[in-house]
Amino acid sequence: MKKIALFDAKPYDKEYFDKLNTKYEIEYFENKLTAKTAQLARGFDGVCAFVNDDIDKAAIDTLYDGGVRVLAMRCAGYSNVDFKAAFGKINVVRVPAYSPNGVAEHAMALLQTLNRKIHKAYNRTRDFNFSLVGLTGINLHGKTVGVIGTGKIGQAFIDICRGYGMRVIAYDLYPAKDKGIEYVDLDTLLRESDVISLHCPLTEQTHHILDREAFQKMKKGAFIVNTSRGALIDSKELLNALNNETIRGAGLDVYEEEANLFFEDFSGTMIRDDVLALLVSRPNVILTSHQAFLTEEALENIAETTLQNLDAFFDDEELVNEVCYQCVDGKGKVQCKEEGKKRCF
Ligand code: NAI
Repeated sequence: MKKIALFDAKPYDKEYFDKLNTKYEIEYFENKLTAKTAQLARGFDGVCAFVNDDIDKAAIDTLYDGGVRVLAMRCAGYSNVDFKAAFGKINVVRVPAYSPNGVAEHAMALLQTLNRKIHKAYNRTRDFNFSLVGLTGINLHGKTVGVIGTGKIGQAFIDICRGYGMRVIAYDLYPAKDKGIEYVDLDTLLRESDVISLHCPLTEQTHHILDREAFQKMKKGAFIVNTSRGALIDSKELLNALNNETIRGAGLDVYEEEANLFFEDFSGTMIRDDVLALLVSRPNVILTSHQAFLTEEALENIAETTLQNLDAFFDDEELVNEVCYQCVDGKGKVQCKEEGKKRCF
């Protein structure tokens, strides 16, 4: 029986993997996968990792020396993997889509909580404070939403926004065809949008796509929603934009320095991240800790696809969900599979 080391394991991961796994001896490690913890996987055939693991060259080399030949990411994003280091040694597979609707629904939940001040109302009514003062929101109907990145999640979010009667404009390096989406350049999107929602991956091009200049170009009073990756936004500039009331509020499921914080309970600890502390203290910022994906359907899809990816690897079948540094062009795998190969290497 092949042995799999599953890192950053949470009770909900274990529940779904245990339910669906019939073939593998899975050992669950609570530790994140890093250069230091990679040695725990010595003697294992494969590892399974998640979004905030730090799979750099040193981690890859240690895994490879220990006998690991496949890295199964149980997520869609892969900006935390050193693909160049892995190439030729460890095949990297992922779960390209496990909950596009779930993530898009969470983005809208963040937006509407922020807009209609549900978080404030919840606290007030629990204290029998039935005042409405300070709870005024805006109608989304008729407003313009600017969607950056119109892949699976972006399109699901667009569908929801259309249901609200919003005008949708979008920016994407690779516009989707035949979807009836009105594409504009980034400056136009920033200038015209009442709501800006980020749904592109984190790449060199998209790092701090919302920086000081971008905030200056925005329509005054826009809402920002980010369920993609924290480093798409320069957090200090976000704070400035909130402070000078350029923007109305921010709904964030991700944060650029989240890696050592999110998914863990620090309620009894002093958090030494002033930007984060200032962000969460603002009434017009809603922060959730990378939970947009977290639905029953997504957890089942993640476990199912990850186990299928492992089956394909060990049965020497085509790795349809493989990614390597040559594939990564912002659109996911393209070149390697076009050459008709079963695997990237
Ligand atoms: P996708 O690959 O289907 O779509 C991404 C879109 O971004 C593509 O249309 C691509 O052309 C576009 N894009 C790439 N580079 C761009 C650029 N420089 N400027 C504008 N657009 C660009 O990905 P999917 O499944 O829609 O996921 C989007 C992101 O959502 C992921 O990269 C991941 O970071 C994040 N995510 C977050 C989750 C959460 O729980 N918060 C869960 C799953 C994904």
